[in-house]
Amino acid sequence: MSDWETITLEQEGGVATLTVDRPDRLNALNVDTLEAIEEALKQAENDEARAVVLTGAGDDAFVAGADISYMQDLSTPEAQAYAELGHRVADKIETFPAPVIAAINGYAFGGGCELALACDLRVASESAIIGQTEIDLGIIPGWGGTQRLPRLVGDEVARRLIFFGERIDAQDAHEHGLVGEIVAGDQLDDHVSQLAADLAAKPHYAMAAAKEALNQSHETTQQAGLRYERRLWSGMFGTHDQREGMEAFLEDREPEFE
Ligand code: COA
Repeated sequence: MSDWETITLEQEGGVATLTVDRPDRLNALNVDTLEAIEEALKQAENDEARAVVLTGAGDDAFVAGADISYMQDLSTPEAQAYAELGHRVADKIETFPAPVIAAINGYAFGGGCELALACDLRVASESAIIGQTEIDLGIIPGWGGTQRLPRLVGDEVARRLIFFGERIDAQDAHEHGLVGEIVAGDQLDDHVSQLAADLAAKPHYAMAAAKEALNQSHETTQQAGLRYERRLWSGMFGTHDQREGMEAFLEDREPEFE
């Protein structure tokens, strides 16, 4: 367990579970909370976590967004710093060298939706409600929503969600490809823990390389991406996990990865 005031970090069996813990504010993200998430991700990386689960405390919210009471009176330079912090946290999730799963256990609005968008996989409870709601606060998504949402759900759907600020239920989010699956609320934690444990048991180096290569597909041309893929792919030969994975297959036994 950790000693941050607004989040908890639990690590077990290679899985780090990071819970935003401000239930009285529906887990809205103020500066302290964002900084704590950033520190916790660094700690999980140093401790070589092989999968991360990101979720919210309580029954109502994943993260109800950036903290509106903090944002209300920000100047442009202060807003710039807040956006940079939000971007840093989202980038840290996106480049974390192991899969990060968002367990969306309730409201995921604004910055909460954007944190989920930075994750590798999104699993929602049946009662989850998701939206890029910033337009109705007189602003736009500022922690990556305008960039990551269209890549995930397509340009038309992203424009509709951002322009209307619509709050959609888990079923609609699933139909749009915004979440990968929906599970009953009382099964969400167990289901996501199992997913994370399954991912943590996979060969770590290959998993990190797969994530890095997939991330590159958003950053570059196809030919440059293919060159990147070739370099990562060939760099895996000679590693313990490559030798062991192939030898185990040929000897018809279970592999023992590092
Ligand atoms: N920032 C700061 N405080 C927030 C918050 C946010 N994003 N979201 C909720 N809260 C606070 C509320 O102000 C309230 O505080 P209070 O008890 O001091 O009045 C408390 O959390 C509980 O929220 P409340 O609105 O009373 O709960 P509800 O069940 O009626 O509604 C929501 C829940 C999520 C539908 C509603 O709080 C909401 O729409 N929140 C804002 C969502 C948003 O636009 N987020 C994007 C920000 S970028």
